[in-house]
Amino acid sequence: MSNTPDRVLIFDTTLRDGEQAPGCSMTRPEKLRVARALAELGVDIIEAGFPAASPGDFERVAAVAREVAGPTICALARCSPEDIELAARALAGAARRRLHVFLATSAIHRQYKLNMAQEEILRLAAAGIARARELCEDVEFSPEDASRTELEFLAQVVEVAIAAGASTVNIPDTVGYTVPDEFAELFRYLRKNVRGIEKVRLSVHCHDDLGMAVANSLTAVVAGARQVECTINGIGERAGNCSLEEVVMALKTRAAFFNVATGINTSRLYPTSRLVSSITGMPVPRNKAVVGENAFAHEAGIHQHGMLKHYSTYEILRPEDVGLTRGHLVLGKHSGRHAFRERVQALGFELDELELNRVFEEFKALADKKKELFDGDIEALVLRAEGSAAGPWTLIELGTEARTNHAAHARVLLQHADGRSAERTASGDGPVDAAFKAIEAAAGIAVTLRKFEVQAVSEGEDAQGEARVYVEYNQRTYRGASVSTNIVESGARAFLEVINRIELARSGARTREERAVSSA
Ligand code: KIV
Ligand code: ZN
Repeated sequence: MSNTPDRVLIFDTTLRDGEQAPGCSMTRPEKLRVARALAELGVDIIEAGFPAASPGDFERVAAVAREVAGPTICALARCSPEDIELAARALAGAARRRLHVFLATSAIHRQYKLNMAQEEILRLAAAGIARARELCEDVEFSPEDASRTELEFLAQVVEVAIAAGASTVNIPDTVGYTVPDEFAELFRYLRKNVRGIEKVRLSVHCHDDLGMAVANSLTAVVAGARQVECTINGIGERAGNCSLEEVVMALKTRAAFFNVATGINTSRLYPTSRLVSSITGMPVPRNKAVVGENAFAHEAGIHQHGMLKHYSTYEILRPEDVGLTRGHLVLGKHSGRHAFRERVQALGFELDELELNRVFEEFKALADKKKELFDGDIEALVLRAEGSAAGPWTLIELGTEARTNHAAHARVLLQHADGRSAERTASGDGPVDAAFKAIEAAAGIAVTLRKFEVQAVSEGEDAQGEARVYVEYNQRTYRGASVSTNIVESGARAFLEVINRIELARSGARTREERAVSSA
């Protein structure tokens, strides 16, 4: 008997379910950057988006399909011919593609959302999958809210899906309701009662509403699932999805228990986590398993003592297993390009010559302001190099004045990509508030500020501050981030990134309206 571990496919949905988290939507360059990092990480399938959601989503999925090599590229579609055809068109440029069709099956969804009887669900699922199969070899079907669906009906739906041509059947715990024993039972029930189930790959897709997404996914693997759907840092709807780094490291660390393997290059986990956090503006909690700042920190004397004797006393993973190669003091003003390149590589980033030169210039400028540069500084430089939403506004000058018990004043000079420039002054409750108001006036956009936070990215008195700004505009959340040794400037740049994101979204909407008018 062979003991070769079964392969579990890693289906990453950071760019679809992850992007559905409030404020996490990504621009096209951001999606491409994350998709390339996922390919390097070794995920098997990238769910790139939901093309029917908007023309922008369609274009972003199409860009990933055209430009990202390696993994299968997948697009989500409701069970309607229009959605399915649109998703298939978005995937046309991919070397390997998959259509993911879903339809809710639970009594709650049937009654309140769809207003459909069981027979209609069965008919619709079969027709949708059959249409998808006409357009794509590789079709996945998800009965949404499967974990709250009557078992017998779920088995019927899955049987119909297999007969209609689905090659992967995904079982979602859409609202994070199930618990491990119950979920394992569900998988066993399906494997026992569904005709043809041995012909398809069973997949699992868990949400984290009760904090059990990873546990439920692992238990599904024990019960026969051979694909796990997950996101980097566990981002996603509400409390998020199953975290990729946690589920992968659990399968690897406890390989003797699970007897399965993934194709993930785990040394890419930490850099990918940092990239997604930087791009989405979703911080990674310090105590987050596997990639949190404290995941490998030992504070108690007894633990430190044990670690000095042997790391295995208190560590089951090594930081380098997940790509964390943190040192302390790294570089300074006199460090050369060679040392800089080595440090960038040790931190897990691959930059081409052009990017390296650009970031090295910024490194030199920063080293002029700051005595010692730490890993956090280098990471921030690399991540911010392409992370911000480009144009149309650029900050040319910022001046602020603030005294205790007096209103603060700010003056900004902005330059627009169309050649205009705008200079405005404003007063506010502190220099940051004044700078935000001056930028709003100069750009002619008024927003509601929801959150402004600053966090040091490294150590020391002259540490850089990373500012994150969240605003609401037209019932949508927009975010921006920036890093500088001057926190007022970093706040202003983060705020300007928000304004640029709004401008980009507005011009996208205008282009769509223009297209609609011209094609009417
Ligand atoms: O949570 C869910 O049910 C989903 C499906 C579309 C797979 O995201
Ligand atoms: Zn989901």
